[in-house]
Amino acid sequence: SGAPRPRLSFLGTGYLGATYAICFAELGYEVIGFDIDEAKIAKLAGGAVPFHEPGLDELLRRNLQSGRLRFSTSYAETADFADVHFICVGTPQRADGMGADLRYVEASVTNLAQHLSRKALIVGKSTVPVGTAEWIEQLVSKHAPAELGVEVAWSPEFLQEGFAVEDVLRPNRIVVGVKSDWANGMLYAAHKGVFDLAATEDREVPLVVTDFATAELVKVAANAFLATKISFINAMAEVCEVAGGDVTQLAKAIGYDPRIGNRFLQAGVGFGGGCLPKDIRAFQARAQELGAGEALRFLHEVDLINLRRRTRVVTLAAELLGRRHGPAGPDLSGTRIAVLGAAFKPNSDDVRDAPSLAVAAALAKAGADVRVYDPEGMGNAQLAQPDLTYTGSMVEAVTGAELVCVLTEWAEFRNADPVQIGELVANKRVIDGRNCLDATLWAQAGWQYRGMGRPQPR
Ligand code: UGA
Repeated sequence: SGAPRPRLSFLGTGYLGATYAICFAELGYEVIGFDIDEAKIAKLAGGAVPFHEPGLDELLRRNLQSGRLRFSTSYAETADFADVHFICVGTPQRADGMGADLRYVEASVTNLAQHLSRKALIVGKSTVPVGTAEWIEQLVSKHAPAELGVEVAWSPEFLQEGFAVEDVLRPNRIVVGVKSDWANGMLYAAHKGVFDLAATEDREVPLVVTDFATAELVKVAANAFLATKISFINAMAEVCEVAGGDVTQLAKAIGYDPRIGNRFLQAGVGFGGGCLPKDIRAFQARAQELGAGEALRFLHEVDLINLRRRTRVVTLAAELLGRRHGPAGPDLSGTRIAVLGAAFKPNSDDVRDAPSLAVAAALAKAGADVRVYDPEGMGNAQLAQPDLTYTGSMVEAVTGAELVCVLTEWAEFRNADPVQIGELVANKRVIDGRNCLDATLWAQAGWQYRGMGRPQPR
């Protein structure tokens, strides 16, 4: 309403960039999505979202039709089209396993800068080590025509897979790191659609305007906090396991304190995905480089607690199946195990660093005949772990199994009928790796039930 809106580009149409491009077109902006991957761009331009995200397909088609949204593999076209360019390319874990690999950031910024022919704002969004915005500024001053006065800013994103559309349209905050009033004004205009939508719904979206370093740190600090919260409750689960307590009740009880809060206190097989595990490692590496390694040493412990949950499932499996631990771990040869879940969380087809797949692989390595099923993640799982055996349905996975492990809390598994499943398996043993089943119901149906950090039901 009123002031003209800047035209926006999103460079990198992976999960992050594609979602933003589509949602900002929905908010009324003229948007271009850029990627070097022609197949990806062709797919998006044809109205197909290349990954699973609820609600996004419909928004893509609607905004392609409206003409507000286009896709391109041309840096020249992208540079020419937009006033504000968001860098959304991937920042994978480096081969050494710790720091972030910035080659895609470097390539996209360099190429974009070389093609610019008027003043523009380049905004970093990818998750990066603190200091990257300053480095991008140097890249820009080296590659963009000096007389244009191209500027840089930083604006982290906090979207969760499965809720990405809501998280972009209705974020709980917007953070911008800027160095000038011009950049601040451009970024405000670039987010005005978000503020306007909030106003029509009688909400407010807090805006935090800060420096580059803080804006970059906000992102990794938030993810480090969330990872710590999950590992905290999983540490409590470990203690509950030896003390005979119930971590689900403990979480509920401490969560009533608003200073603690009840969200992200779900004990289980731990966190996975493309963000939390990678981010806490990269954050430690960066702090180390900056001479503040000690400050983040606890994140190493957070990582270890998280990985121990995976081992715990394997140990529990051996225990339930009556197998002994050898020096090299349990021997599960000759056993049949159904693993329900491959995605790192429900409502996602993402299997990156998924605890479920890691556990399935460990069970198979221990000699078990493992059958994996996931409602959405099968394609990605087959690519990531081609040696595992996959089935086309839950029924197929559990038929003949001596143990069922529920490792991703899909509704299909949560709502499964223990009586019906019980008729298919060879032995009624279940590990509820997400504490998502009704323990009493399963026990009543004759199952030996084991949760994570909770006693056996009576
Ligand atoms: C996470 C953050 O939640 C987002 O805010 C952030 O923007 C995003 O990373 C990112 O950096 O891009 P996401 O990876 O989609 O989002 O997934 P989460 O919902 O955070 O779940 C992460 C993992 O933690 C999952 O494996 C989930 O099963 C696990 N988890 C979550 C638990 O084990 N317990 C909980 O209580 C909550």
